[in-house]
Amino acid sequence: MIRAGRLVAIPTETVYGLAANALDQAACASIFAVKRRPADNPLIVHVEDALQASSLGELGELGRQLASTFWPGPLTLVVKGRRGNATVALRAPAHPVARQLIALSGRPLAAPSANLSGRPSPTTAEHVAAELGTLVPLILDGGACAIGLESTVVDLSGPTPLILRPGAISEEMLASYGVLPATEGAAHAPSPGTRYQHYQPAVPVVVIEDGTGRTAAEVIDEWADALDRAGEVPALIAVGQARERRWQQRCFGSNAELATGLFAAMRELEADATVLLVSAPSAEGIGQAIRDRLRRAAGGAFHRAGEVPNWDLPKGD
Ligand code: TXA
Ligand code: MG
Repeated sequence: MIRAGRLVAIPTETVYGLAANALDQAACASIFAVKRRPADNPLIVHVEDALQASSLGELGELGRQLASTFWPGPLTLVVKGRRGNATVALRAPAHPVARQLIALSGRPLAAPSANLSGRPSPTTAEHVAAELGTLVPLILDGGACAIGLESTVVDLSGPTPLILRPGAISEEMLASYGVLPATEGAAHAPSPGTRYQHYQPAVPVVVIEDGTGRTAAEVIDEWADALDRAGEVPALIAVGQARERRWQQRCFGSNAELATGLFAAMRELEADATVLLVSAPSAEGIGQAIRDRLRRAAGGAFHRAGEVPNWDLPKGD
């Protein structure tokens, strides 16, 4: 099907992707049509290894080093393109099903996350089927994704290596290679995908951070109560112990578990809740990627525990 220019949804270790032969322009155009993706947001090309990557882009010395350390795995490298594109984003995924499809088809696979543009990424085959259904002729079911958040994107095409999108390969892991966090590269243009609203479930997301004197964990139930009294149906997502509550909740044992389960929790809870209350994790390791996705899901802002919530929900008076 890949050789025939058709689309195949594939599991990766990060999230499910909607794959097509990267060398077939018509096939790649149909990815944009199915996802309703803005035409100026380029796709990641998935390859077997650094050798295949080198036929599509110029990895350079640092790119080769990063590839040999982190590939196959959740790291995407934006490098100078070899085939008419100024730049190309390349990643060798670790999931055996994705790797086999690349090898068996003999094609590099262009694959964005297999969701409608703007929605949370799918982390199971069921999510893909529910959202894209008949638009995708084949979905390969490789089980739930282990990481649950999209790959780290590092731009090697400019004067300074920069993180464009945080992911499981963290800022700390990349620091010794001289790769800078995006915020420090003020003059640099962000990844095209970061311009758009993203990761948004069907209902508003309110994210609470620890404030001075009060923690998010302390206030989350008060806030849920206040929302309940305002006629909303809150649901909670947090790291910590689940306890007896009147609202639906998804509580995770660690930041890594929150990363793995966040998008699935959003998809499950949006069915009945009218607002999702999430306590923001700390920013170490994968926490930074979680905070990035939460910020976008919430439309930009976090609330601080201890301050009077002035949330601005789209519906209700
Ligand atoms: O983990 C992942 O990366 C998943 C799985 C399927 O591999 N894919 C994924 O693709 O998240 P997508 O399309 O949802 O996100 C790709 C990101 C976007 O932010 C896009 O703007 C950026 O990579 N990107 C792609 N090509 C680029 C380029 N040439 N320069 C800068 N950013 C680029
Ligand atoms: Mg995406």
